[in-house]
Amino acid sequence: MTKEADLLVRRARLLTLAPIGEERPRVGPAAGDVGAVDDGWVAARDGAIVATGHGASWERLELVTGATVEDVGGRVVMPGFVDPHTHLCYAGQRWDEFASRRSGSDYLAILERGGGIHATVRATRDATDDDLLALVRGRLDRAVAAGTTTIEVKSGYGLEPEEELRHLRLIAQLRAEAIVDVAPTYLAAHALPGKAAGDRRAFLRSAQAVLAQVAHEHLAEAVDAFVEKGVFETDEVAPLMHEAAALGLARTVHADQLNDVGGAAFAARIEARSADHVSRASNDGLRALERSGTVAVLLPGSALFVGYPPPDARRFVAHRVPIAIGTDHNPGTSPMEGMPAAIALAVTLCGMSPHEAIVAATANAAHALGRGKRAGALLEGRRADLVVLDTDDERELAYRLGARLVLQVYANGARVAQSEFIH
Ligand code: NIG
Ligand code: FE
Repeated sequence: MTKEADLLVRRARLLTLAPIGEERPRVGPAAGDVGAVDDGWVAARDGAIVATGHGASWERLELVTGATVEDVGGRVVMPGFVDPHTHLCYAGQRWDEFASRRSGSDYLAILERGGGIHATVRATRDATDDDLLALVRGRLDRAVAAGTTTIEVKSGYGLEPEEELRHLRLIAQLRAEAIVDVAPTYLAAHALPGKAAGDRRAFLRSAQAVLAQVAHEHLAEAVDAFVEKGVFETDEVAPLMHEAAALGLARTVHADQLNDVGGAAFAARIEARSADHVSRASNDGLRALERSGTVAVLLPGSALFVGYPPPDARRFVAHRVPIAIGTDHNPGTSPMEGMPAAIALAVTLCGMSPHEAIVAATANAAHALGRGKRAGALLEGRRADLVVLDTDDERELAYRLGARLVLQVYANGARVAQSEFIH
């Protein structure tokens, strides 16, 4: 059957990321299979992939008038990256804290003293809507230029109900204007606001009220909480998570990042879509994640910048827990930008193979955001989100840390970024 296309990218080393059924996130050997096709092509129409193939078989396509045809000369073409964990909505930087942590200060002690997350909360509260929008837009643009076509964005630097809602409404505005797919998350319990120091329960009740409003205005797809020693306990945030489920929202958890607080098992219990960080998760926690099918989102950037031991991917593989990776971009623990860097760190720090890290940054990350059938693979019917790399070997993503390998980015079938280094 002849198919019509308005975009054809050909002569590619095509990574389809589609070697097996795509119903579930990948585990085991399938989690290292990128579905490579040499001399491959991918065609799209109206923002959706219509076909892939190899050699000259694209000649059977009917190219509509004005179609874009790109001969990429053997370069890698793969799905756009999916960043399943970011905190893009903030103002201000934390250079001083970063420097002081490098000389030995403790992340949680700084938070306890009213710095850390609270410093960003203060700077963000002081930013006008327009200033904050401009900051987040800039971060989004840079993520896209680095190949990200689906991105989660959390709130969480508001803390106070009205501020959280303000941030979520700004994220909604950006989502509506963005050409890439933005998945908003309400980070309901990130830290206890200074004012509420005496009354944790009142704060968590106010977060429940925000949650109802968030659901009412469709401001988030998921709800998140930071469960950590001295921050929030799993039992405290459980009612919030149950309420989120009752309202039809997905759950995700900052779990066992610095200490094992049973966060992974908690994430499994509340049937969270993902359990994130999980650097300190116990084997029991991993077994629970395996049973619940929860994706472990590994965030090596924060381990590197805070200086704690990174999560060991081999443990997750051994327990058949699906792995995704993300940047965790935020001004405190992970100021790094771009998924190529996350891939390189997942390989060098967490012990993933380059191909496992690519699966974790695409197909499995899409599952972590409930988009397992929409993004993360080059399959008929999916959004035409692709990146063209300036290399014929995708393993360079893991190897040339800091290199600008992303040459072109297509989102929804349209070219949204083009590196000035094209030659
Ligand atoms: O993912 N640990 C909790 N939340 C963020 C960091 C927040 C901050 O320090 O500003 C994280 O690491
Ligand atoms: Fe985070």
